[in-house]
Amino acid sequence: MENFSKMHLSETSNIQTSELPGIKSRALLQLQEEIEGNNVSYPKKMPIAIKKAKGAIIEDVDGNHFIDFFAGCGVLNVGHSNAEVLKSVQEQIENVIHVLDFPTKVKLDVIQEILAQLPPELKNEYKVSFGGPTGSDAIESAIKLAKIKTGRDTIISFTGGYHGMSAGALAITSDISFRNNISSLMPNVHFAPFNYPYRAKSNNYGKHFCLSYFENMLQNNHSGISKPAAIVVEPIQGEGGNIVPEKGYLEELVRIAHKYDVLVIFDEIQCGFFRTGEFLGFMHTKAIPDIITISKGLGGIGLPLSGIIYRKDIEAWSPGAHIGTFRGNQASLAAAKGAFDFVKKHNIKEHVKNMEVLLMEGLKTLQNKYAVIGDVRGKGLMIGVEIVKDLESKAPFPEFVAAFRKTCFNKGLLFEVGGHYDNVIRILPPLNITPKIIASALAIIDAAFEINYELFSCESIYNTEIPASV
Ligand SMILES: Cc1ncc(COP(=O)(O)O)c(C=O)c1O
Repeated sequence: MENFSKMHLSETSNIQTSELPGIKSRALLQLQEEIEGNNVSYPKKMPIAIKKAKGAIIEDVDGNHFIDFFAGCGVLNVGHSNAEVLKSVQEQIENVIHVLDFPTKVKLDVIQEILAQLPPELKNEYKVSFGGPTGSDAIESAIKLAKIKTGRDTIISFTGGYHGMSAGALAITSDISFRNNISSLMPNVHFAPFNYPYRAKSNNYGKHFCLSYFENMLQNNHSGISKPAAIVVEPIQGEGGNIVPEKGYLEELVRIAHKYDVLVIFDEIQCGFFRTGEFLGFMHTKAIPDIITISKGLGGIGLPLSGIIYRKDIEAWSPGAHIGTFRGNQASLAAAKGAFDFVKKHNIKEHVKNMEVLLMEGLKTLQNKYAVIGDVRGKGLMIGVEIVKDLESKAPFPEFVAAFRKTCFNKGLLFEVGGHYDNVIRILPPLNITPKIIASALAIIDAAFEINYELFSCESIYNTEIPASV
């Protein structure tokens, strides 16, 4: 097994200040509050100001070390400031950084690398296109290409799906709270139920129901839905709660879409770039999409880069059909090249599988101990722990998760919360984490469950107040 110990600032959390945030963080957070827009969100839940980060450890300005099971929301797959990737970036920026879409060696290297990582039977069938630097832009570009290719306007998206904040991406994102008071987003979007194995019975999200509902949308002239250009689906849902659909679901979804001549867009922005142990999440299945969106981990150490991969016969747009000043930034491309080299040199796929086993075993052991843990699921290092009030009704328990997160934060562990009901602990560490970091994190998680389990169940398990002492 590869030893990545030296790639991290340390391998445990270390909280030195008597309270969090520490004095220096507090001052910067206060300044931020005064001068930055109110849409800032993460520091409200994890109140620190960051000084530096390496591997899976973040150091705040007060010298506290946090284990990062958040990884910039699934971006830092090769770890913060990975030295091998930094070297690749540094070499590139000495030469050239901004070239719009002129060819450079590093860009063509990255395209060839992306294609080489596809399943062998597909690698000669696809092309790559870079647009603006964000995931949302890749979504806009994929939708645009599908519409141009088919001459149709309707898009089907899925419950629990998250695709970004630009107008088209937001229109196909299911969480309506993001859309309050915003009218005139992209029209002609419809949502189908996404298979959610843990809630197959309790909420009617079983594979067969979801697939027949979807087929009815396409086949029934009275479904009220004009023939779509495409469906957009995350092969493994991220913000929706790290949900891995049942075996065969994706294959059937693609088969049905193609039966009705509808294109399939797989959004791999979060589950791609080796997050699940394969280059792309769908590569665990036999499903084959027409268009794929990629971003996040592609930029290696957090440099912004996004693109789409699409079947050559979908090439329907003309030069300039999807442009953007910052497409294919050379520093980001060099980071992508460095990240691919790192992944191959250190056999990250194998490492992810080993770390997945350690984390899953640890979390499943805790599931036997704490009856609020309804489900532990995931693929590779994209793991969801769903918290419920009782195992029978599966009633979501978001209050517990909010308090639990605070306890973990105070002990030096950062992670994201998500899911349909804000009741899923989303574990997305850098892929080069070590067994020691996992053991440290599991010890914090265990202690935090014990504290909150007692606090909540001492009161009433249905008490929605967060106990003051957490
Ligand atoms: C699956 C998925 N698609 C699209 C996006 C949007 O990417 P960005 O925030 O870079 O625009 C995200 C971001 O979290 C995502 O998780």
